[in-house]
Amino acid sequence: MPSYVVTGAARGIGLEFVNQLSADSENNVFAIVRKKATATQLDALARNNIKVLEADVTDAKALKLAAAEVSKVTGNKLDYLINNAGKTNHPGFTLDQFPSPEALENDLLDVFKTNTIGVVHCTNAFLPLLKNGSAKRVISISSGLGDPDATVAAQAVGEPSYSISKAALNMVVAKYAAQYKAEGFTFLSISPGMVKTSMLPSQSGSSSSFLFSLGLIMFELASAGPEAVEELKMLMEGAATFAPHFKGPITPEESVRMQLEVINRWTVEGTGAFVSQFGNKQWL
Ligand SMILES: NC(=O)c1ccc[n+]([C@@H]2O[C@H](COP(=O)([O-])OP(=O)(O)OC[C@H]3O[C@@H](n4cnc5c(N)ncnc54)[C@H](OP(=O)(O)O)[C@@H]3O)[C@@H](O)[C@H]2O)c1
Repeated sequence: MPSYVVTGAARGIGLEFVNQLSADSENNVFAIVRKKATATQLDALARNNIKVLEADVTDAKALKLAAAEVSKVTGNKLDYLINNAGKTNHPGFTLDQFPSPEALENDLLDVFKTNTIGVVHCTNAFLPLLKNGSAKRVISISSGLGDPDATVAAQAVGEPSYSISKAALNMVVAKYAAQYKAEGFTFLSISPGMVKTSMLPSQSGSSSSFLFSLGLIMFELASAGPEAVEELKMLMEGAATFAPHFKGPITPEESVRMQLEVINRWTVEGTGAFVSQFGNKQWL
């Protein structure tokens, strides 16, 4: 029975990973959430092969306890770890626009703690089990915003803390890959695309163009102040040139289906890579 751990599984992309993986009754899926009581969408799946565990990814001790729970069920093994939990505070500022150095530093540290250090804590907690598993795969959900080349090409000036945390996450993945390739591990950093979750502003479902989608984001960030409007205007102009083919955000269902196709065909030879849901550097 292949075993999977998915973090940030209460909603969005993490919930959809649990949904698609547990649809195969042969899979044993461990869904890690911050609060079981509020993970009602997971409860609604009501499948015997899903076990819900509590841990905040910034809490190394809680992650070790979760790993011990998984170990009890699987006989000290794990095949796949999916580091999905992530956050952004949507500050609406570029690096030089925060109201104070303290506000900038707080945002940088807060997001880094979850998106980067959280993945390290989680990977370390489950490595002993993964070593005994047969797949030896660790997948970390990154973002195209963590690609420096694309950032410059698309003039993506917004979401600085989030982008920096995801670029650092890609290095975390490379470090583990370098260390564990000889043991047959595959570490992969994958961007899910732009996906309709609570990480994006609410969508009516009628979005048909990239500009429309960015317009919605612009609307959301506008509440953070006039700087955000200017920031998003620049992003819209850059992105329209960067990805004229883009038709708008995809659903979690489509994103996870595409990611699983890439994850399942990725081999140890490609360990440490940073790719999109297309399996390449096409982020949108
Ligand atoms: N949506 C996109 O367009 C997009 C694009 C690129 C990358 N991503 C990445 O995809 C991943 C999933 O995002 P999403 O779009 O599904 O966002 P989401 O709907 O906001 O879900 C984020 C999940 O992460 C969990 N989480 C946040 N901080 C956590 C912590 N400290 N410990 C444990 N869990 C924590 C949340 O838990 P609670 O439910 O308890 O809050 C939630 O379940 C993230 O890594 C994100 O950066 C998303």
